[in-house]
Amino acid sequence: MSNLLKPYTFNNGVEVKNRLVVAPMTHWSSDENGHATDAELDFIRPRAKGFGIFIAAATAVNEQAIGFRGEPSAIRDEDIPHLKKIADTIHSQNTLAVIQLHHSGKDRQPNTGNNTELVAPSADSVTQAREMTVAEIKQTVADFAAAAKRAMQAGFDGVEIHGANNYLLQQFLSAHHNQRTDEYGGSLENRLRFPLEVTDSVIDACKDNPQFIIGYRLTPEESHEKGLTMADTFALVEALAERDLQYIHISLQGFYNKARRNADVNRSRLELIREKLHGKNVALIGVGKLNTPEKALAAINTGWVDFVAIGMGVLANPDFGERCQTGNSQKMRKMPDLTRSAKFNQMPEAMLNQFMNFVPKPLRIIFNFIRSFRS
Ligand SMILES: Cc1cc2nc3c(=O)[nH]c(=O)nc-3n(C[C@H](O)[C@H](O)[C@H](O)COP(=O)(O)O)c2cc1C
Repeated sequence: MSNLLKPYTFNNGVEVKNRLVVAPMTHWSSDENGHATDAELDFIRPRAKGFGIFIAAATAVNEQAIGFRGEPSAIRDEDIPHLKKIADTIHSQNTLAVIQLHHSGKDRQPNTGNNTELVAPSADSVTQAREMTVAEIKQTVADFAAAAKRAMQAGFDGVEIHGANNYLLQQFLSAHHNQRTDEYGGSLENRLRFPLEVTDSVIDACKDNPQFIIGYRLTPEESHEKGLTMADTFALVEALAERDLQYIHISLQGFYNKARRNADVNRSRLELIREKLHGKNVALIGVGKLNTPEKALAAINTGWVDFVAIGMGVLANPDFGERCQTGNSQKMRKMPDLTRSAKFNQMPEAMLNQFMNFVPKPLRIIFNFIRSFRS
């Protein structure tokens, strides 16, 4: 396990104890004000153990940003003491606490309880989102900066700008989603403008604390005809690497996934991005189905990334970080046990229910029946 357990020093001098990162995971469990609940903190505490960095779930930067029921909030100054509970819980495990800053744009889950108008780079007939005005774009840039400052005041060690998974920043970069004809749409340079303005404003807001970690998470490609390609992603990572950022986090379903378009399709996206970043002092994080310590080790041994992030592996196995200390990959779960209670799975009820929603109804009835007499 030694390559996974080696420390890493970011370009701002902050040392991370190992190469293991908990991937950001939405839990649907903050209260109606977006404030941390005990269920949420109980989910985080065991899972932070043994990891170098824990990236706390997507957290809204303004009202329109909220994309999930129970999404944490960094919208108002009143949120700071509640954000502090999350940072303190992660720190209780001697793990660095980073929080992900999020705007869902037009990709809001149904039944969030968020009745604000859906906004997006361009109007969208499917979701009924309307085009953001330039004034709203500028305000949103400022909202990301203000949320980053609140995270810093709450004691977090850093923030991750959520530029991935189809949400607002990605919607701006993607020619599929962004059909604007002003300075925020059209050419690649224009489509990059909003994500880079957000990045610059967050960096500027946090500049008084050079030890504060700033990362950016991105999705490298989209499947739509006009969607993101590796060419867009190379331009984004090169622009990010010129800035005062500590890491770039590539959101992938599979760590080894190959490029789809506008690059060597026989090579993995991560390897290609690593090559683009050659000589740049910015860390790279990869993710995707690394659901055992063995797989995490094999991934770090590719040399493509500085850190590996783990999602489902740590969701289903709260002792994942501890297992990595010894390399124990025995009897690991791929999924939470849906025949057992939320308490058994050490996860919030609302989060377990999200998994149940994907189970066909007859099976759900059986699972619920079994659950009714097991803990
Ligand atoms: C329950 C759940 C919640 C997630 N929430 C977020 C999130 O808030 N922000 C984000 O960028 N990705 C989120 N993801 C994606 C993960 O961070 C990760 O990229 C993905 O699960 C792939 O990694 P894995 O194969 O190790 O699970 C979530 C994934 C899961 C399973």
